[in-house]
Amino acid sequence: MQSILVVGGAGYIGSHTVQRLLKKDYQVIVVDDLSTGKMASLPSQVQFHQVDILNTSELRKIFEKYRFHAVFHLAAKLSVPESFPKHFEYFDTNVVGTKNLLKKCEEFGVKRFIFSSTAAVYGNVQSALVKETDPPCPQNPYGLTKLMAEALVVNQGEIQKDFKFRILRYFNVAGAELDGSNGPRNLHSGQLILNLGRSAVNDKVVSVYGTNFPTRDGTAIRDYIHVVDLAEAHLEAFNCLESASSTSGVWNCGYGQGYSVMEVVKAFEAVNQIKFDIQLQPPRQGDPSQVVANNELIFKESGWRPKYNDISLICKSTYDWIKNGIGQR
Ligand SMILES: NC(=O)c1ccc[n+]([C@@H]2O[C@H](COP(=O)([O-])OP(=O)(O)OC[C@H]3O[C@@H](n4cnc5c(N)ncnc54)[C@H](O)[C@@H]3O)[C@@H](O)[C@H]2O)c1
Repeated sequence: MQSILVVGGAGYIGSHTVQRLLKKDYQVIVVDDLSTGKMASLPSQVQFHQVDILNTSELRKIFEKYRFHAVFHLAAKLSVPESFPKHFEYFDTNVVGTKNLLKKCEEFGVKRFIFSSTAAVYGNVQSALVKETDPPCPQNPYGLTKLMAEALVVNQGEIQKDFKFRILRYFNVAGAELDGSNGPRNLHSGQLILNLGRSAVNDKVVSVYGTNFPTRDGTAIRDYIHVVDLAEAHLEAFNCLESASSTSGVWNCGYGQGYSVMEVVKAFEAVNQIKFDIQLQPPRQGDPSQVVANNELIFKESGWRPKYNDISLICKSTYDWIKNGIGQR
């Protein structure tokens, strides 16, 4: 049985990915410092180590204990507003933490690496659909640190010829398992659809940041991807790296369809029968007007075919999860 290390596996996207790896009969080891992740999101078959990726001696012990076939690295600090005042901490976790893992991979002969990146590396996008080859220009420290971490991963692939990687640039992730078995547990992450879910069970007040963007209704446009489709993209990325002809590279993970903030609010209200009190606010620092994926590459290079490309379903599964109260445990 192959062992796979999932770093940040107790988090939202990590735990959905862990569930799918277990279904494929991999031995899954999770390293997570539980700074935002939750033990409750991990199935019992997982071997768990509460370790900070900045702690290299603890990381060494784990790499000594197991022979990892691949590392999936999802651990990060990821709040855009927080990344401004805490930019050095973001650099440490997102850049130095990634360097620590790459170094351990090199030392212990791990040759497969899947890295969670973000559309925040693109910054203010010029084209309607942003491509992997478009020049990155992050507008906030979070996006900058992810781009720096990407560069370390790419560099490792250039130096160590048998090291294969896939960088996944996620767009806006939301949703929960349709059977209610897993979903977001950190409802304060600042993600729009999670904010709507939290607000829907509380005061029903929603802040919309920025109403003068050059978009169809003045609010910012984003590409929202269901967490289950994204978890499946990780397995596709891994399968591709396993094939003899595999190449390393970057894939955008999004649906290629953008919704404005107002459109998402309306979709959430309609499918969940909620009425929000909408409060218009000035734009937040570092928020681009429109970021939507060109996803031709992942379609061309893998068998990934999303199943939940439906904004109403994303809003409904998120709200069903949150109103059941499980997400707050
Ligand atoms: N959620 C999104 O919309 C989104 C979009 C683009 C990219 N991403 C990327 O996806 C990845 C996962 O994000 P998520 O939404 O699941 O967030 P999350 O906060 O739920 O998961 C991150 C996990 O990393 C762990 N972690 C953080 N710092 C750590 C450290 N120093 N050592 C060990 N573990 C640490 C946390 O405890 C948590 O379990 C991140 O790399 C993030 O940058 C997320």
